[in-house]
Amino acid sequence: MVDQQLAKSFESIGEEYDRYRPGFPDAAADAILPERVNAVLDLGAGTGKFTELLVERADRVIAIEPSVAMLDVLRAKLPAIETRVAGAEDIPLDRASVDAVTVAQAFHWFDRDPACAEIRRVLKPGGVLGLLWNHSDPSCAWDYACHRIAHPAVGESDTTTDAAADELPGFVFEYQHDIAWVEAITREAYLARWLTVSSFLTADEATRQRKIVEIGSILDAAPATRGKDSFELPMRTAVFVYRALI
Ligand SMILES: C[S@@+](CC[C@H](N)C(=O)[O-])C[C@H]1O[C@@H](n2cnc3c(N)ncnc32)[C@H](O)[C@@H]1O
Repeated sequence: MVDQQLAKSFESIGEEYDRYRPGFPDAAADAILPERVNAVLDLGAGTGKFTELLVERADRVIAIEPSVAMLDVLRAKLPAIETRVAGAEDIPLDRASVDAVTVAQAFHWFDRDPACAEIRRVLKPGGVLGLLWNHSDPSCAWDYACHRIAHPAVGESDTTTDAAADELPGFVFEYQHDIAWVEAITREAYLARWLTVSSFLTADEATRQRKIVEIGSILDAAPATRGKDSFELPMRTAVFVYRALI
């Protein structure tokens, strides 16, 4: 069941999200679209952090996103892209109008079955659905410790990629790619990034500040980050590729 308060938390930010959230490696877009296509829809496109990788991979790129604040940033960055304000459960596109649908960091917010029905409706027969999520690298102990503060339940269950259950109605699962990469990040940006995470956006100010102080203490103690203004953050991007049943 999607927590609507968390799902709508992105209505309040845009600029900060775009400035502080990580992007995606080219390999993630290549995994979904190994060849150029005619039309691709990026659903839950946010500020366009994944959409921008699609520009070179399709003649027509459409970004759909329910938060106007997020979409305004995308429109400023990528003015040539078609945009619509809408949710995944009611997609304002014609039947069989796109070759591929991509969903970066957002599928777990969708009402799964109606969203799958809508995605299948707008996809051409045999079209591709690519779901992807950035993750912390579990081998990075200091980043993992920060995640434990932000999300105390982390490790018990992965609530995001769990959404990419291998059974999606109307689709057949084709393959999964796990891409390891490294992001160069400043300490200031690492701390500010946490403030763009839904659990921080919906927390009260005192909880937010307490968690940021605790995360700062971890950075002060870990050999990889202690005393440094910038450091390397190991990242993983998980990509799940499905094909629409004909
Ligand atoms: C974590 S952000 C990811 C944004 C962008 N795809 C990226 O990777 O940076 C999740 C996005 O999903 C959007 N979202 C939430 N519920 C949605 C729904 N039911 N349909 C479509 N998008 C939704 C939010 O507004 C937000 O922009």
